[in-house]
Amino acid sequence: MQAPMAVAPLLSILPEANFATFSSDVCCAALQATSLRDQVLYPFSAGYNESATSYFATNAQLSPWCIVQPYSAEDVSIAVSTLVQADESQCRFAVRSGGHTPGAGVANIEQGITIDLSMMNSTTYHEDKGIASILPGARWESVYTALDPYGVTVPGGRSGKVGVGGFLLGGGNSFYTARVGFACDNVENFEIVLASGSIINANRTSHPDLHKALKGGSNNFGVVTRFDLKTLPLDLLWGGLVVYDNSTTAQQIAAAVDFTDNLHTDPYAHWIGTWRYSSDTDANIIAHALEYTKPVPNAPPFREFAKIANISDTTRLDTIGNLAAELDLPQGYRNIFTTGTYLNNPQVLEKAIALHNANIEKAKASAKSASWNMNILIQPWPKLFWEHSQAKGGNVLGLDRFDENLVQLLFYYTWAHPTDDPLFQPLATTILSDLNAHAQSLAAHNEFIYLDYADTSQDPLAGYGEDNGRFLRKVAQKFDPHAVFQERVPGFKLG
Ligand SMILES: Cc1cc2nc3c(=O)[nH]c(=O)nc-3n(C[C@H](O)[C@H](O)[C@H](O)COP(=O)(O)OP(=O)(O)OC[C@H]3O[C@@H](n4cnc5c(N)ncnc54)[C@H](O)[C@@H]3O)c2cc1C
Ligand SMILES: *[C@@H]1O[C@H](CO)[C@@H](O)[C@H](O)[C@H]1NC(C)=O
Ligand SMILES: *[C@@H]1O[C@H](CO)[C@@H](O)[C@H](O)[C@H]1NC(C)=O
Ligand SMILES: *[C@@H]1O[C@H](CO)[C@@H](O)[C@H](O)[C@H]1NC(C)=O
Ligand SMILES: *[C@@H]1O[C@H](CO)[C@@H](O)[C@H](O)[C@H]1NC(C)=O
Ligand SMILES: *[C@@H]1O[C@H](CO)[C@@H](O)[C@H](O)[C@H]1NC(C)=O
Repeated sequence: MQAPMAVAPLLSILPEANFATFSSDVCCAALQATSLRDQVLYPFSAGYNESATSYFATNAQLSPWCIVQPYSAEDVSIAVSTLVQADESQCRFAVRSGGHTPGAGVANIEQGITIDLSMMNSTTYHEDKGIASILPGARWESVYTALDPYGVTVPGGRSGKVGVGGFLLGGGNSFYTARVGFACDNVENFEIVLASGSIINANRTSHPDLHKALKGGSNNFGVVTRFDLKTLPLDLLWGGLVVYDNSTTAQQIAAAVDFTDNLHTDPYAHWIGTWRYSSDTDANIIAHALEYTKPVPNAPPFREFAKIANISDTTRLDTIGNLAAELDLPQGYRNIFTTGTYLNNPQVLEKAIALHNANIEKAKASAKSASWNMNILIQPWPKLFWEHSQAKGGNVLGLDRFDENLVQLLFYYTWAHPTDDPLFQPLATTILSDLNAHAQSLAAHNEFIYLDYADTSQDPLAGYGEDNGRFLRKVAQKFDPHAVFQERVPGFKLG
C-alpha cells in the first residue's frame, strides 16, 4: 500500500523511517537490484528526459517514477517478473513502443514505472521463410529501410515515425490492407512475455488462442517482444498528396463513396481523405493521400478524384519509405484523436464535414494557442478488408459481423498550449457524439471503434462484439490468471 502523502513528513522524522516503504522507491529499487540496474532511468537524468519527451503528443508525456529500457526479451521478462513480485504486488507499470497514442496514460503512467521498448528496434529478414522479425520499439521507417535491399516490404504504418508495437496490436491499416488485410492479419508469430515472466511464442500451432487474441487485443495479455511478419514483394508505389479547395466538398464526397464501393475491383489503390483547417494559414482545405501499390500513375480507381480541379499535387513514383515520410505529422503538440465507424453513406460524410466547419468557427472564437489544427480523416473500410482477415485465420476485431462497406472517421485536433485543453478536448468528443446521433437517425452508425484511433473516453474492445469480448476475457484469464495486465497496466482494458 502506498503511504498517503499527508503522513510522509511524519514518517521521515521517525528514527526507523525508511523511504523505501513508498512504492515509488520500492518498485524502482527492485528493478535496480536486478541485472537491469544500468537501464533504469530516474527523473532529471538525460536518458529519462529523452524517453519522457519522445511521445508523439506532449499531453502523453507523463512523469513515471522511473523508466526501464530493456534490450531483449530476457530483459523484459526480468522487468515484468520483478515488478509483478515487488512491493506485495503494488507496482503498476505501462508499456510503450513508439509512443504515438495521443491519449495520456495509454502507453505511459504517473505513480508507476514505464517499460520503454525503444531500444528493441531492429528488423531482421529471414529470406528462406519470407518473414521479417521486427522488434516492438522499431518505427516503420526503419523497417522499410531494413527490408528495402531484399526487395520486400510489410504492411505497416503510413507515417514513417509511427511505432510497430501499438500499431500491430490494434489492427494496423496500411497501404496494403485491400490486398492483404490488416497488418495484424500478417503476423505469423508473436513472441510475448507473460505476467509470470515466461517467454512464449503464439502462432497457428503454438497457443493459437493467444495468437488470435493478439490480433487486435492490445496490451491485455503480456508484453510482445517480437513480431514475425509475412513479407510482400516490394514495388515502387505511385502516390502523394493532392490538395483541393474545400468548395469541392460535394464532388469529393461522391468520389469517396464510389472509391470505397469499388475498391475490391482494384485493391492496389489506397485513399485517405483529410479535411483540414490550420490556424497558421487560416485555410480550410482538402488534402488527399492517393497511393497505389504498383508503379502505375493515375490508375482507374482515382478517376472521380481526377475530375476535380486540384491546387497542388505531389503524386509521383516513389519508395514506400519516402511516401510514408511525406505523411509524417508534426510531433510536439497537444493532440486528441476520437473515432467512429459508419456505413459508406454520403449523408454521414456531409454531416461530418458540416460539424467540422462549425467546430472550426467555435475554435476560432476562443483558441489561445498560436498554432492549432483541426482535421477529419475519412478512410474506406470495405468488407474486402475483413474477407482477407478471415482467409488468414481471423482476428478479434469482430468486423466479420458486418456485411456492408464501412468508412472510418478520425477527428484529429492539435494545439500548442495546455490552456486550450478545455476547448479542443470537448470539441473532439462532442463532434463524435453529434455525428453518431445523426448516423443513428440514418441507420448508418456502426458500433466498431478502431482501437488505434480511440480516445481514452472510448471503449474500443467493447466494439469488437460480445463473442470476441468473451473470448478475450477467457484468453486473458488463461495467460494472466492474476489479472496483472487488467489491473496494473493501463491502456484499453477488457472491462
Ligand atoms: C502520426 C500518426 C500516424 C498514424 N498512422 C497510422 C496508420 O497509418 N494506420 C493505422 O492503423 N494507425 C495509424 N496511427 C495510429 C497508431 O497505429 C496508434 O497510435 C498505435 O498505437 C501506434 O503504435 P505505437 O507503438 O507508437 O504505440 P504506443 O503509444 O507506444 O502504444 C499503444 C498501446 O499499445 C500497447 N503496446 C505497445 N507496444 C506493446 C507491446 N510490445 N506489447 C504489449 N503492448 C504494447 C501500449 O501499452 C499502449 O497501450 C497513427 C498515429 C499517429 C499519431
Ligand atoms: C530535458 O529535455 C528538454 C528538451 O529536450 C531540455 O530543454 C532540458 O534541458 C532537458 N533536461 C534535462 C535535465 O536533461
Ligand atoms: C534504435 O534506437 C537507437 C537508440 O535510439 C538508435 O540510435 C538507432 O538508430 C535505432 N535503430 C533503428 C534501426 O532505428
Ligand atoms: C510456433 O511456436 C513454436 C513453439 O515456440 C515454434 O517452435 C514454431 O517455430 C513457431 N512457428 C512459427 C511459424 O513461428
Ligand atoms: C469551406 O470553408 C469555409 C471556411 O471555414 C466554410 O465556411 C465553408 O462552409 C466550407 N465549405 C464547405 C463546402 O465545406
Ligand atoms: C491535379 O491537377 C493537374 C492539373 O490539372 C492534373 O494534371 C493532375 O492530374 C491532377 N492530379 C490528380 C491526382 O488528379
